[in-house]
Order: sequence, then structure tokens, then C-alpha cells
Amino acid sequence: MDELAVNIGISIIRGSVALYDIITYPVYALIQKPWNQKKLINRTRAVELETEEGVCYHNADPPHPFQLELRQANINTVEAALSYACKKHTNKRAAGTRRILKETEEVQKNGKVFKKYELGDYSWLNYTEIDTMAENFGRGLRTVGHQPHENIIIFAETRVEWMVAAMGCFKQSIPLCTLYATLGDEAVIHGINETQVKHVITSHELLPKFKTLLDKCPNITHITYMTDQLQTTPLSGYKSTIDFNSFDQIVLKGKDSNFSGCPPREDDTAIIMYTSGSTGAPKGVVMSHYNLVNSIIGYAVGMDIRQDDIYLAYLPLAHVLELMAESMMMMFGVPMGYSTPLTMTDRSSKIKKGCQGDCTVLEPTMMAAVPLILDRIYKGILEKVASQGPWLTKLFEFGLEYKRNWMKRGWNTPICNWIVFRKIRKLLGGRLRMLAVGGAPLSSDTHDFIRISLGVPVMQGYGLTESCGCATLMDQYDLSTGRVGAPLQVCDVKLVNWEEGNYRITDKPRPRGEIVIGGANIAVGYYKNPEKTKEDFCDEDGRRWFRTGDIGEFDEDGSVKIIDRKKDLVKLQFGEYVSLGKVEAAIKISPVIENMCVYADSSKNNIVAIVSPVQKNLEDLAHGLGKEDLRREKLCLDDDVNKAILDELINIGKKAKLQRFELPGAVYLTSELWTPDTGLVTAAFKLKRKSIQVKYQDAINRMYAS
Ligand SMILES: *[C@@H]1O[C@H](CO)[C@@H](O)[C@H](O)[C@H]1NC(C)=O
Ligand SMILES: *[C@@H]1O[C@H](CO)[C@@H](O)[C@H](O)[C@H]1NC(C)=O
Ligand SMILES: *[C@@H]1O[C@H](CO)[C@@H](O)[C@H](O)[C@H]1NC(C)=O
Ligand SMILES: *[C@@H]1O[C@H](CO)[C@@H](O)[C@H](O)[C@H]1NC(C)=O
Repeated sequence: MDELAVNIGISIIRGSVALYDIITYPVYALIQKPWNQKKLINRTRAVELETEEGVCYHNADPPHPFQLELRQANINTVEAALSYACKKHTNKRAAGTRRILKETEEVQKNGKVFKKYELGDYSWLNYTEIDTMAENFGRGLRTVGHQPHENIIIFAETRVEWMVAAMGCFKQSIPLCTLYATLGDEAVIHGINETQVKHVITSHELLPKFKTLLDKCPNITHITYMTDQLQTTPLSGYKSTIDFNSFDQIVLKGKDSNFSGCPPREDDTAIIMYTSGSTGAPKGVVMSHYNLVNSIIGYAVGMDIRQDDIYLAYLPLAHVLELMAESMMMMFGVPMGYSTPLTMTDRSSKIKKGCQGDCTVLEPTMMAAVPLILDRIYKGILEKVASQGPWLTKLFEFGLEYKRNWMKRGWNTPICNWIVFRKIRKLLGGRLRMLAVGGAPLSSDTHDFIRISLGVPVMQGYGLTESCGCATLMDQYDLSTGRVGAPLQVCDVKLVNWEEGNYRITDKPRPRGEIVIGGANIAVGYYKNPEKTKEDFCDEDGRRWFRTGDIGEFDEDGSVKIIDRKKDLVKLQFGEYVSLGKVEAAIKISPVIENMCVYADSSKNNIVAIVSPVQKNLEDLAHGLGKEDLRREKLCLDDDVNKAILDELINIGKKAKLQRFELPGAVYLTSELWTPDTGLVTAAFKLKRKSIQVKYQDAINRMYAS
């Protein structure tokens, strides 16, 4: 169909829809009462407190009944909280895992062979079963010689055994040290060394890593591994002094033993969470039981959990966001279905063609996400729509615009939802009604797009490992983008001047400054690192505060906007400040970018970009330029391809209203993929700027020279 016909078609639809809107306006108004919604959209979310230094805001909502319930039950450790939940929800479904029916090898078009799964239904454990298993696991650790208050490491992917192991450790006052499953060998050794553990809990998939690691960790004597559903775990080729147990064996040993529980006190260490800092070795953040239980209670604000809610659990449990989310779900008795990013949807890479992904089977109503995942969903939807031709693309764009306009004014658009967005909602199962996102800044485009096309509130939050993931969270009525919501009840959020960066609390129109978080959720400090602890944490007005290094601004309703990061700010030759993170967030939405890092040399007047492109889109672009040889290495070095991509980046930057000096002056395409084991990104896929700069220094020099 040619463009003219498409445009005429869309105009006709536009006209008819406008007419329909006018005629049905009174009916919809009566049914939907949009003025109520409008009030919620514009309500005050936090109020200013008197304070000596800085500007401080406190949550404006009354406490949630659930918070009062826990306070009344006198619960002051996370162990007590989870036990309380299990006793309360006894026979309800707690956690589900899909059965693996078969593993097959699928030959791809390009000749590569991928392993794919045929997965069955979810099989569920109820709360009583989880609690009993955790209790036995904890006692089982005692039978193999583990003492209360003696560290243990967990190094495994997200699965139900992870959570059960954590609960088991809590019951015996064993501090659980968490390491990301994607962490590089060196970082793992560092964690094992620093915590002086002799026992590691890991999984079938990760166990082989220890063949080489063990030589560098002579003190390890015990390894407990979570088994695979299909394969037995080979145990040969390791040092003979290691005592191996499967997860189930430990549970059995615990069942047959007569060790009793050793419940923690509130100031005992619950978790030492290793965060892969963007510079240097990972730091262990010490979280007490008191910290964690307060964070869980803090998150309960504004959660309206329903009877039929189901949670999709797939983010790394070694990340505080997921750990808190899953603990919360347990408190409310929400069933959690475990999943992985590789099996989430029907089109996920490990799902056999024609088989159902986890979302389709589970039909979750709630999930947490990191921006990286939402960016992928965004690009995926756009590609899928574009592949259906210009007609549907235009219709889709019209639907987006139509729904956005009505939503802003407090209306819902049921017919448009059904016609335009029904299929897209199906992608994540079709019942999703709440999505929380955190861990890194979410671009406004992605935020807006996901909210409209999936038809769910996308609640962006802000928090750090050091604040147990808590600081601010948007409520479900908040339709803004670029904000992270108001302070949660458990903590106050304060801004203080950062003179060097020119951010002051006296700034007009709104106060700006470094974000400092204070409350019961603020961690004890960094493990075995008193200097760094002293630098970032302090006690004041009877509570603990943490200086985040992030720069924020308070909106009038008490919500916070993250506008900068101390480390990310570079002053250019003529005195303009460039925020690298902001530029990246704006430009990264280009479908050709898998990952990017911008670099700014303060002796120059522009920035340059290093980009790792998406293979398929790179090929398409090169094909469009008439290139024959589509090998990645070749294309990355090709001048025309480079130019085309640079133009695209500049265009996107201009559309996002970046300043001239914030637009890249040159781009370097790298054929390398940035995964955590390259050392260029952290396990949470945050850029490690320094490592990237060192690795690509030559390319940077050439870009600035050209
Ligand atoms: C929950 O688990 C317990 C212990 O295995 C079992 O006795 C009970 O029947 C289960 N409840 C339901 C509803 O399945
Ligand atoms: C282990 O820690 C000690 C200090 O506690 C340090 O001297 C040593 O270099 C570390 N070893 C490794 C392999 O990190
Ligand atoms: C290993 O164990 C010994 C003896 O308990 C202890 O002194 C040493 O610090 C431990 N080393 C590590 C790296 O944990
Ligand atoms: C259980 O306790 C009894 C005495 O109370 C003791 O004799 C026995 O060895 C214990 N069993 C185990 C498996 O620890």
C-alpha cells in the first residue's frame, strides 16, 4: 500500500474516533469519573520537614495496615517476618518452578545450534512446605559443622532454593554473603577471601567454576549445590578434601538431626551483599536484620495486593531489589513463579519454537524489572510492529498518541486497549497490572511507551544496596516520567549542596543537591572497610544516613528527580558540564545500540561515543547501505556504517533536546559484546567507565584527533 493511502486511512480513523469520543463523552465521564483519577495523579506525595542542613522530605501517606500489623506482632528481624508470613499463609501456594520436560538442540538458520527447553507446568510448594524446608536446611548446615554467626556464601542463580537457603540461614543466625551469579572469577575469589568462609552454596551450572577457583581459596571445605532437573551433577575433578552435598541432602540431614533453631537478634548481620561497584573490587554491604525488616515494611506503602495476584520472579536474588520484592510477596502471601530472562516469553531464546514461555503459563500480575529489560521489550515491540507493514505501524502510533492524551486527563480507553494493545499485553501473559523498575535510570521514552502499550503503571523506584533498596518509589497513579517517586515511609530523603557541581538547595525553581537518605533501612556499612564506611555513612538526629553521590531535585509534590551523578559529570573545555549518564540514557534508545558509553575529555569541547551494536540491526543498516560483507568485525570498521550510526545518534540526541555539546562528535563501533566477564560492565550491567576508557583509549584518541 502506498503512503498516501495509509495517510488517508489514518485520517479517516482519526475523524471517526474524534466523532465517537464526542458522542460517548458523557457516558464515559459518568462511568469512569476521571476527576477522581486526576486528583490522585496530582496529589501531594511528601511534605517538607524542618531541618538544620539541606532540604528534607517525608512521606505524606498514613501507615499501611500491614505495617501496623507487623509492629503489633513485635516483629523486628527478617527471620521473624518470614516465619510469621509462613505461619499465616500455611496452605497457600508460595513458590513455583516449571518442570523441564526435555532439552533439545535446535539448528538455527545460520547453522548454529542452540539448546532449547520444553517446559511443563509450574509445580508449587506451599508456605508450610517452604518453612519446613528452610528450617531443615538451616539445621542441615549445623550437621555439617556450620556454626551460628559464621559466614556462608551463596553464589547461584535465582530459584526457589536460593530463597529457602536464605531463610534457613536466617533461622540459624548465619550471615549470608551474596555474590552475583555473573560475577567474574576474581571478584568471587575476593568475596570468598574477605568473608573467610569455608562453605559455599552454589548450583549445578556454576559448580564447574570451582574446579579452578578452589586452588585460590584453600579454606573452602564444604560445597552445597542445587541440582539440575535433568542431569546429575559430576563431582569428579575437584580437590578430594571437599565435602560435597546437594541441597536436598542438606535438607535431609537437617530433618534427621536434633539441632534447634538459633533465632537472630535485630542487630545481627542478616546479609553481606557484594555489589559490583563500577570501580575496583566489589564491596560487601552489611545489612542487619533490623535494616531488612524495616525495608520490607517500608516497601509495603501504597501496595494494594489482591487475592489473585501472582508475581514473576526472575531478577538476580543477589540484587537487593529482587530480594526485597520476593520477601514482600511472601509477607502478603502472593505466589511467586520463578523464571529467567531466557525463558520469560514465548519468543525467549531458550524456549523451543511453538512452546510457551513462563509468562504465558503463569500469567503474572506483578513483576520487577531493570531498565535494560524494558529497553529490550520496547525495541522488540517496535520491531514486531514495524514488521507488520506501514499500515499497522501508523495505526499503532495513533493508538499510542490517543491513549497517552486520554490517560493524562485521568481517562481509560478500553476499546483502544483491546484493538491496538491486546496482543502486546499477551506478550507478558495478559494479566500484568503492576511493574516496578529500579537499579538504573529508565529513559522517559521507554517508560512512557511501556506504560501505554502494556497498559500497566510502571513504578520507577530509587534505592541503593546501602539503603537496602529503599529510598523512593512512584505510586501507581503517578503518570510522569523521569521521576523516581516520593520518599518511602521508612526513610527521609534530604538534599544537600554540592558546590563543585553547582547544585544548591537554593536553586530556582526547585531545590537541587546531593541525595542523602536517612532511616532504619540504612545499612551498617561496608564489610571490613571502616574508612569507606566513615566516608559515606554517618549518624545524625538519632538515625543513620547515607550519602549517595547522586544528584536530585524535589518536585512540588515531594517526588524526586535524579538529575545527575557526581562521578558522571565532566566539565568541557568551555566550562559546560556534561552528564554522561544523561546523554547515554537519551541516546541509548536507538535500536542499533546494544550498549554504549560516552566519554568526555575536559580539554575538548565535545564528547565521543563507544557503541556495541545490535548484530541484526547493524546488518540491516549495512544492507541498506549496499554492503555485501556483513561480518561484524568488518562492519564495525566501515566508514559508511560509522557515519550512518553517528548521524542516527545525533538525530536522536537532538530529538531528546540535548545541547550541542552533549551530542557525540564521533563514534567508535566495537565488535565486542559487553558482558560482565569482559570486565567492561558490572554484573548488573552498569558501565565501568574507567575499564572501558582504558580498553578503548586508542580509539578515543583517534576519535578526538579526527
Ligand atoms: C501444604 O503442604 C503440607 C506439607 O507438605 C501438606 O500437608 C498440605 O496438604 C499442603 N497444602 C495444600 C493445600 O496443598
Ligand atoms: C586475601 O586477603 C588477604 C588479606 O585479608 C590479602 O592479603 C590477600 O592478597 C587476599 N588474597 C586474594 C587471592 O585475594
Ligand atoms: C584460612 O583459615 C585460617 C585458619 O583458620 C585463617 O587464619 C585464615 O585467615 C583463613 N584465610 C582466609 C583467606 O579465609
Ligand atoms: C539427638 O540428641 C540426643 C540426646 O538428646 C543425642 O544422644 C543424639 O546423638 C542426637 N542425635 C543427633 C543426630 O544429633
